[in-house]
Amino acid sequence: MSVTRYQWQPTTADIARAAGVEVSEVIRFDQNTSPFGTEWAREVVAAGVAALNEYPAADYRPLREAAAAACGLAPEQIVPGAGVDELVILCARAFLSPGSRAVAPVPTYSLYEIATAQVGAAFVPVAAAAPGFAFPADDIVAAARDADLVWLCAPNNPTGEQIRPDAVAAVVAACGGLVVIDAAYAEFAGDDWSPWIDRHDNVIVLRTLSKAYGLAAARVGLAMAHPAIIDILDGIRPPGSVSRLSAELAVDALGSPERMRRTVEAIVTERAVLADRLDALGLRVLPSAANFLLCEVGPEAHQVADALMRRALVVRTYPAGGPLADYLRFTVRTAPEHDRLVDTLEQILP
Ligand SMILES: Cc1ncc(COP(=O)(O)O)c(C=O)c1O
Repeated sequence: MSVTRYQWQPTTADIARAAGVEVSEVIRFDQNTSPFGTEWAREVVAAGVAALNEYPAADYRPLREAAAAACGLAPEQIVPGAGVDELVILCARAFLSPGSRAVAPVPTYSLYEIATAQVGAAFVPVAAAAPGFAFPADDIVAAARDADLVWLCAPNNPTGEQIRPDAVAAVVAACGGLVVIDAAYAEFAGDDWSPWIDRHDNVIVLRTLSKAYGLAAARVGLAMAHPAIIDILDGIRPPGSVSRLSAELAVDALGSPERMRRTVEAIVTERAVLADRLDALGLRVLPSAANFLLCEVGPEAHQVADALMRRALVVRTYPAGGPLADYLRFTVRTAPEHDRLVDTLEQILP
């Protein structure tokens, strides 16, 4: 099978080695993860250590119940996966096949196109126009009419745009197939797509513990949909792909929403501060409802990223020749980390 491969980011160990610094000095502004540590997880991990010889419960009942309570849904409307990434792959496997069509606005999260191609279906990109890359609502609605599946990322990675609910509603109404709303960053936008599940039986909402809940290493995602859809996804998920410890960490995280809310508050505050500072450096910063900022840097974007990387600061670049070649994406982190980023940018920007 010859399909585009997902591009793995360089590892922190590789970056540290190349920059000649300790791993702890590397700051990742490229992965949209939380900058906050997970000391709170110590107790959960310690309690789980005694049962590492056993598989997780096959039905993930405690995790489904915790997610249902957190999202105001029933456990039958939820299935967990090893991150949203596994759930994206499972949605493609379950609902697409050779001859079917999946639509998405582009630029967006690259895995939708890869997952679509992996099952031999056609990926239909609908371009969002530079320089704003606003959600191309009318074109998506038109393309959705004969789509088997529409991938929507809300807010969108990499633009950070919060897609308006009326635009999503128009897509859901037009689409004869399924609409997958990847809400990986929804907490930072104050969005809650979960109630859509009760209103529309062709909507799948994907949520993650990797971003606002700060548990990227645990690899836990949640798909939410009508029980009939959940049953199909449940039937093809790899057995036990969410580890026992990860499921327990997710239960704790979902049961402690105030911890997540503190993270979101801190990031939203810092997002505004960092946007102003990058703007003051002369970069064009797109408005963002997520935990990252997409900035137009200019034709030297890749050189700037390389220079940052040599100083152990990792930012997200986009392929030369593509619509975002001149852009860099920065994850919003903490004020001291932003000081290091901005000070370094001041030195290296042409
Ligand atoms: C839009 C989007 N969806 C999903 C993911 C992956 O989520 P998870 O860690 O739950 O697999 C990412 C990761 O960056 C993302 O940007």
